[in-house]
Amino acid sequence: MIIMNRNTSPIKPLTDEQIFNAVKKTNYNQYPDQERINFINLYADYFGFNPDNIEVANGSDEWIQKLIITLGKNGVMSLNPDFVMYQIYTEQFLPEIYFVNAEPDFTFDFDKVIVAIKAKKPSLFLISNPQNPTGTMFSTQDLQRLADAMAEVDGYLGLDECYIDFAKDYERPKGKNIIILRTLSKVYGMAGLRVGMAIAEKETLDIITQINHPYPLNSLALNLASELFSDKKALQKFKNYQFESKARLETALDQVSDLMEIKESYTNYIFTYGDAAIDMANFLLDKGFLSRIYDVPILQNAARYSIIKLEEYQALNEAIIEWRNQYVE
Ligand SMILES: Cc1ncc(COP(=O)(O)O)c(C=O)c1O
Repeated sequence: MIIMNRNTSPIKPLTDEQIFNAVKKTNYNQYPDQERINFINLYADYFGFNPDNIEVANGSDEWIQKLIITLGKNGVMSLNPDFVMYQIYTEQFLPEIYFVNAEPDFTFDFDKVIVAIKAKKPSLFLISNPQNPTGTMFSTQDLQRLADAMAEVDGYLGLDECYIDFAKDYERPKGKNIIILRTLSKVYGMAGLRVGMAIAEKETLDIITQINHPYPLNSLALNLASELFSDKKALQKFKNYQFESKARLETALDQVSDLMEIKESYTNYIFTYGDAAIDMANFLLDKGFLSRIYDVPILQNAARYSIIKLEEYQALNEAIIEWRNQYVE
């Protein structure tokens, strides 16, 4: 089965030599201190962040849960649909999550979002940009309205930039109440190592790390991550492979864009919806391509495809054409 339902990298980033280097220098008999600082410095340098504004945890998943525990006591709000774990983690601690539903075309009306914030006064709003599952991006203006509305109710905005490397340049909204979440699980090809970053004002980091274990990440994961960011040229090549894969995925799905709705994507996956979308997803499943389909009502006619190895596109294209020919008959 070719996995197209996880939004991860189809290939691994490090050479055997890089892995060996990282393992060899890992003092796993000691607690990981310097390893954390080294990685944070490399990551901050790569993106031009201040290292004092960065903390690490086991994937952005752990940050989402931490944000909910430390900042979400007076209610958590999100969009529906958005990343499924926002709801799952919220309901571990609170009776329910507040949602603002998408329009039928999976866009969001930020006037409705602002009205909902004023009505419910949540202490945390979680949103992914670019968005999961639609792959779309929100405007700076809408995000700024969201951050400001949350500030007015003394709340925080968790801005989940899991897929930001696939995005177009955008001016991030400004505000002391914003926590950016990042991950090495997607374009950096390290989902199994569980490395996630939170980037925020120092005072906010102090609040969300109050519940930290003393050593949030293990030294081997940190050293492997540092190895990745130590060779910027190799890293760029690795990322380019995935950008190429994304372009091929677009071309593959373009072949059926007259039969279903396909969202313009700024991520490593593409979102399709409509009756034909589900029909094609089921057909491709029989051909060995596992897309993401959903059991929640709002996504019942949607299917999402993430990038695969370049050499797998020929078979995907053939399967899509085969589906098309029998569907339009
Ligand atoms: C929007 C979004 N946020 C967070 C995550 C979780 O990422 P991590 O592997 O860093 O926990 C995902 C994973 O699919 C995601 O789509």
